[in-house]
Amino acid sequence: MIANTDKDIKALRAAGRVCAQAMQLMMESAKPGMTTLELDQIGEKFLKKEGATSAPRAMYNFPGGTCISVMPVIAHGIPGNHVIQDGELINIDVSAELGGYFGDTGASMVVGTPNPEYEKLLTATKETLNKVLTLVQAGKPLNLIGKTVQQEANKNGYNPIFDLTGHGIGRQLHDKPSAIYNFHKPDDRRIMDKGMVLAIEPFFTTGQGHVVEKADGWSLKTVDNTIAAQFEHTVIVTKDEPIILTLP
Ligand code: CO
Ligand code: CO
Repeated sequence: MIANTDKDIKALRAAGRVCAQAMQLMMESAKPGMTTLELDQIGEKFLKKEGATSAPRAMYNFPGGTCISVMPVIAHGIPGNHVIQDGELINIDVSAELGGYFGDTGASMVVGTPNPEYEKLLTATKETLNKVLTLVQAGKPLNLIGKTVQQEANKNGYNPIFDLTGHGIGRQLHDKPSAIYNFHKPDDRRIMDKGMVLAIEPFFTTGQGHVVEKADGWSLKTVDNTIAAQFEHTVIVTKDEPIILTLP
């Protein structure tokens, strides 16, 4: 959507904040020994308390309130009876609707004891999202995002995940512009417009950068079972710096 009124911006901020707060609560709550379903319920309970609704459950009938992916699954992981292990790399993705507006945020993390290989991947992916956010501005090419993500991935010895993209968002979870690529695509001539609401989500992997759906019909895992990380924010494009909506 294009958000140009104060009413839209205020409502989007509220939706983004509730997603970010649920995410923060889940990240703080994630402990070895708990199941991904227990972690999910902490998040969904919080959303409900705040008057928000899980977007994947409402929009796509996803069997969970949030997506919790355990490596090598990197997206759309279904919360369930998996017991989180010490040192495991997971991804939490929270998207929700509040008052008719949507927010979407995600982060990868190690639960319990960190290890240098995972930390390096997490830092590189998160720093890339932060770098991309400094480049988002009305009038610039939309694929500046993908170009930057791919450059930063390669510079750090990783690949972006070519099959997973960011997306427009707003009055729906997935809105125009569709597919915000995480790689350089010279024929993508779209321009960022003032007021565009974007969910930007770089994915890095140590592998070749492709995913495959598992038999559960949802979970997307790296084809080569390599590790991956994602960080995501929802933002509004402006003439200057973007407004980051998914802050707690
Ligand atoms: Co997301
Ligand atoms: Co998203």
